[in-house]
Amino acid sequence: MIGRRRFLEVLAALGVSQALPTCATDRKVSFDSYPFTLGVASGYPSPSGVVLWTRLMGLEPLEIPVRWEVAADEAMRQVIFSGETTADPAWAHSARVEVQGLEPDRWYWYRFTAGDARSPIGRTRTAPAAAAPAQRLRFAFASCQQYEQGFFGAYRHIVADQPDLVAFLGDYIYESSWGSDLVRSHDAPEPYSLADYRARHALYRSDPDLQAAHAACPWIVTWDDHEVDNDYANDRPEDGMGREEFLRRRAAAYRAYYEHLPLPPRMRPEGPNMRIYTHVDWGTLARFFVLDDRQYRSWHACPRPGWRGGSNTVDVSECTRLASPARSILGRAQERWLDGRLAASRAQWNVIAQQTRMAQMDELPGPGRRAWTDSWDGYPAARQRLLDSIAARKIQNPVVIGGDIHAFNVCQLKADFADPRSAVVASEFVGTSITSQGWPQERINEYLPDNPHVLYADSRYRGYVRVELDAKLWKADLRAMQTVQRRDAPCFTLASFVVEDGKAGPLKV
Ligand SMILES: [Fe+2]
Repeated sequence: MIGRRRFLEVLAALGVSQALPTCATDRKVSFDSYPFTLGVASGYPSPSGVVLWTRLMGLEPLEIPVRWEVAADEAMRQVIFSGETTADPAWAHSARVEVQGLEPDRWYWYRFTAGDARSPIGRTRTAPAAAAPAQRLRFAFASCQQYEQGFFGAYRHIVADQPDLVAFLGDYIYESSWGSDLVRSHDAPEPYSLADYRARHALYRSDPDLQAAHAACPWIVTWDDHEVDNDYANDRPEDGMGREEFLRRRAAAYRAYYEHLPLPPRMRPEGPNMRIYTHVDWGTLARFFVLDDRQYRSWHACPRPGWRGGSNTVDVSECTRLASPARSILGRAQERWLDGRLAASRAQWNVIAQQTRMAQMDELPGPGRRAWTDSWDGYPAARQRLLDSIAARKIQNPVVIGGDIHAFNVCQLKADFADPRSAVVASEFVGTSITSQGWPQERINEYLPDNPHVLYADSRYRGYVRVELDAKLWKADLRAMQTVQRRDAPCFTLASFVVEDGKAGPLKV
């Protein structure tokens, strides 16, 4: 709680222009500039609660009391819960509330107030009750939004789809500038410090379509490499930066990430460590396993000559270390956690939400095999452990979703990728990027004959994946933007695939 005297000190320090207030919620108090310019967000719905988020901009380094309200109606007339929290300058004046006591399986509206400034109203919802046989879930998943390479217009179409949930699967910001046909600029060099990463997040979050999608429904999120540095692995960066220096950089990046996303308070980072992997249940219909394949992974095997870290494309017969069973993409603790949670799941659909592609992709046309070491292809023993466990435990309807490769991929996850007759263990859907540029389609086409388990691969379009599922059917629409050079560009369904209950493997419709 913040006393009245402290509040008056805060207001005085802010250069409040109106007469001093008589109580902490006096609406006459005004800020020099509107503080809620980054909008609002919500995340991690449970049957009884949800996390609400905002960040106040342009303030002096003082704690600011922030009031939050949750209402049953869009106009915020029937306020059900309210309270006060603090926007702490140590956390970039972000405000975060984990609301509890809500009813399961329904929509709510929320907003924040500081002085006379009110945030936009956000819409969010709770998950169905734990034992409830939820009828239906509609969600979108997205990844890879390089700000300079396009507008985030795909989010307009996500909002129009009215999803219950958005899953963001990594590369929420980019630390680097690259690509062609840029539509806007970071106007800053690569971030290293906390201030740098905060500014990068604030820039991305200034995009109105991204803000609208955050205000439209709750999100669940994980990160990939670009939230910190291209191709980092655990404590090892791509370039020659020393371990201690890199961990300081990782700490700054993780902290800024936490400050800008609607993550539960329990995920608050401690220095360079932040546990983001978790599971989210949607009644008995679906369980999302949200994984972190960056923070704990073994270093890349066989980096490029002259490099200490970073990915490479290697001949698997030459890079013998690649297949070592000691190598893990999740780290042993997360592997054990995932195995336990999968075994305990009673969900109809078990959705493994992670960053990259899990299916093998041979990148050498003809005899022999080349593998890209940044994806699960760089950790084949860990992939085999997971797929073997899913098969042995007969996990119900396992579906892997991912991003990272800036292309749509729809795959069969096989017990043995080398054997075309081997059983399909799980289904995989990789979404294309929101804006980030991908490989030429011709290059992918050269690889496809050697990868019959990759049913569909298209790198030509930016966009997202829309999923609707019920007890019997998972339906995924690959949604493609005509262009990302314009905010208001149209979006169309490039292809649709279904997964039928009890039958692993996507089918084209
Ligand atoms: Fe990416």
